[in-house]
Amino acid sequence: MAVNMKGKSLLEINHLKLEEIYQIFDLSAALKQKRLTGEPHRSLEGKKLGMIFSKPSTRTRVSFEVGIYELGGYGMFFNQNDLQLKKSESISDTAKVLSRYLDGIMIRTFDHQDVVDLAKYGSIPVINGLTDLHHPCQVLTDLFTVLEKKRTLRGLKLAYIGDGNNMAHSLLHGCSKVGMDISIASPSGYKPLDFVVNESKANAKYMGSKIEIFNKPIDAVKNADIIYTDVWASMGQEKEAEERKKKFSGFQVNAEIVKHAKEDYLFMHCLPAHRGVEVTDEICDSPNSVIFDEAENRLHVQKAIMALLM
Ligand code: CP
Ligand code: NVA
Repeated sequence: MAVNMKGKSLLEINHLKLEEIYQIFDLSAALKQKRLTGEPHRSLEGKKLGMIFSKPSTRTRVSFEVGIYELGGYGMFFNQNDLQLKKSESISDTAKVLSRYLDGIMIRTFDHQDVVDLAKYGSIPVINGLTDLHHPCQVLTDLFTVLEKKRTLRGLKLAYIGDGNNMAHSLLHGCSKVGMDISIASPSGYKPLDFVVNESKANAKYMGSKIEIFNKPIDAVKNADIIYTDVWASMGQEKEAEERKKKFSGFQVNAEIVKHAKEDYLFMHCLPAHRGVEVTDEICDSPNSVIFDEAENRLHVQKAIMALLM
C-alpha cells in the first residue's frame, strides 16, 4: 500500500521507513520509463522549488532544476550570498518567509543543523542536497542504481574505501536500512562518526545484515558486490587536501584492490572524482564502473522524491 509522504522533509535516510524507500524506487523507475518514452508526467504543475547552495554543484543543481521543470514546476536557484540567510536574518525567519512563497526547498550547505532548523521552522518540505553530515539524495540514487543492476539489494555487500564523511554516513544509513552488508575502510582519525555507526548497527540488527569498520582497504573489499569511494578532501576541506593525501596513501581504489571483490563487482562514486587520487582512471572507466548511471539516476530519483514530498 502506498505511504503518504506529502509534506515531509528529507533530511537523512535514517528518517525513512523501508516502505518509503521502496516507494521512492518504484516511482523513480516509473518516471525514468516515462521520460524515456516521452510520456508526460507533470505531477507538480505550477509548484515552486527554491534551491539554496552554499557549496558548488554540478549534478545536484542541474538534476533538481531539470527535474522540477520536467514535473511541470519551476526551480529558483539561490547562492547563499543572494539571500539574507544567516547574515542578517535567522534561519527560522527565513524558513517562515520562504514557506509563504514556495512549495519546497532543496538546500546544500555545511552545517546539518541549519537544514534541520529550516525544516523545523518552515511549513514546506525541505530536501537535503548535501551537508557535512549526510547526502541522502545521492545514496538513495546509488541504491536505486544497484537495484537496477543487481535486481536486489538485501544480502549484497558494499565496501566503502575512504573518508568517513557525509557519503560514508548516508551509505551506512542506506545500506543498513535495506539489509545490505557494508564494510568501511578508513585511516585512523577519518572513521565515520560513532553515532551514525551505532544508528546503522541498530538498523542492521533489525534487517539481519552486517556492518564492519576496518583499517585496511583489502579487509573491507573481500567478496564485495560494490566498491564505493569518494574524494579524500570534501568541499570546505580544500586546505587539508595535501595532508589528507598522505594520510590516505594506500586507500586508492585501483586494479590491485578490486581483485579482492567479486568478479562482477560494481564500481561506484558519487562524483566529482579526483582521478588518479582516490581512484585510478582504469577503474573509473572499466566495464564494472556505473558512475555515469548514478549521475543520470539522480534526476529520476530526485523527481520521485519531489513528486512524493511536494
Ligand atoms: N554527487 C554530487 O552531489 O555532485 P555535485 O556536487 O556536482 O552536485
Ligand atoms: N564528500 C563530498 C561529496 C560530494 C558530492 C563533499 O562533501 O564534497
